[in-house]
Amino acid sequence: MLSRTPPMGFNTWNTFGEDINDKVVRETADAMVDLGLRDAGYEYLVIDDCWSERERDPVSGRIIADHIKFPDGMKAVGDYVHSKGLKFGMYSCAGTRTCANYPSSFDHEFIDAETFAEFGVDFLKYDYCNRPAHHHGDLLYRKMGMALKACGRDILFSACNWGADDVHNWIRSTGAHMYRSTGDINDSFPSMRDIVCSQIEYLPYSAPGCFNDIDMLTIGMYGKGNVGAGGCNDTEYKTQFAIWCMFSAPLMLGGDIRTFSPETVKLVTNKDLIRINQDEEGRPAFQSYSWITRNADGSAAYKASGDKAKVFVKLLSDNEVAVMFVNFDDRERRVDFYFEDMGLPVASGYGLEMKDVFTGENIGVKKDFMYRNIQAHDCECYLCKISK
Ligand code: GAL
Repeated sequence: MLSRTPPMGFNTWNTFGEDINDKVVRETADAMVDLGLRDAGYEYLVIDDCWSERERDPVSGRIIADHIKFPDGMKAVGDYVHSKGLKFGMYSCAGTRTCANYPSSFDHEFIDAETFAEFGVDFLKYDYCNRPAHHHGDLLYRKMGMALKACGRDILFSACNWGADDVHNWIRSTGAHMYRSTGDINDSFPSMRDIVCSQIEYLPYSAPGCFNDIDMLTIGMYGKGNVGAGGCNDTEYKTQFAIWCMFSAPLMLGGDIRTFSPETVKLVTNKDLIRINQDEEGRPAFQSYSWITRNADGSAAYKASGDKAKVFVKLLSDNEVAVMFVNFDDRERRVDFYFEDMGLPVASGYGLEMKDVFTGENIGVKKDFMYRNIQAHDCECYLCKISK
């Protein structure tokens, strides 16, 4: 059986786009092991769109690997990935052509699933471009879900229909293990923030078995690569990683791992944050509404909903709780947090013993109310025990 916690790994799209090849994949596999990412839990190495020839093989009807990008074929790539103790992921699409105009699986679901099984594939990302209009998405994802079950390998099914057609209502029933819920991310703070804010109301639709995928991470890209955009700074990457962990989102790295700095590796291997992301209960985070968000000088700024400064709370197994303060605004904000709002009233006598996951510092037991002054785009995140 496949793991029931959010999948972790790497996907080629954010950095490489069309420029994928055998060498890049092998070097990435090496880097995932050498930098300790595999041992931190990043197990899937996924090749996204643009891996095949432009047309199916006329005789066999199968999709075949681009013979220049992957001269030894995909089975050889999969074997190499497996030899490093990693799992191998690939990409197809529910429409007649992939998003980048390569052959796609519409009406070929079962033969393609057989092909992927022969390649040794453990993960299939399944996109939504060029869908014939009279075929509803639920049936298309059901077909590939069935084909994967029939193909004789355990293959993680990663749906990617960008949140269209109320996907959260039907995707779990198709057999998918994760589902993209938004349009594509790019490496900029507004892109990340808008994706996150659009999914707050859908957090309850993410649970063991099928997790809401808010797209590949851009951490470590610094504006380079296929979705480079303006780039983010280290504060913004720190916020991105903490939110993905709080939201139980799949942790699919999208930066060029071969160039990751020690600081980037430290961030994405933070044990406390990964513990929050991988919690076996997989409970959704919720937003704890402060009555008022204040400016740093104490004056009132925003009313509860629509705040740019937010508090997220996630209940974990073993009576632990994760709390995150995040400031999406472009200037410093004071973020108020009433414990009553997450269900811990003053009269109970209980509070939270709080450990800062970034510094490792235990800041003691806090009760009733606290506030943090958070810099623009920054966050604080705490792993807590309920305590007197
Ligand atoms: C998009 C998808 C991206 C990437 C791209 C490839 O639809 O959201 O993550 O897979 O297609 O063409």
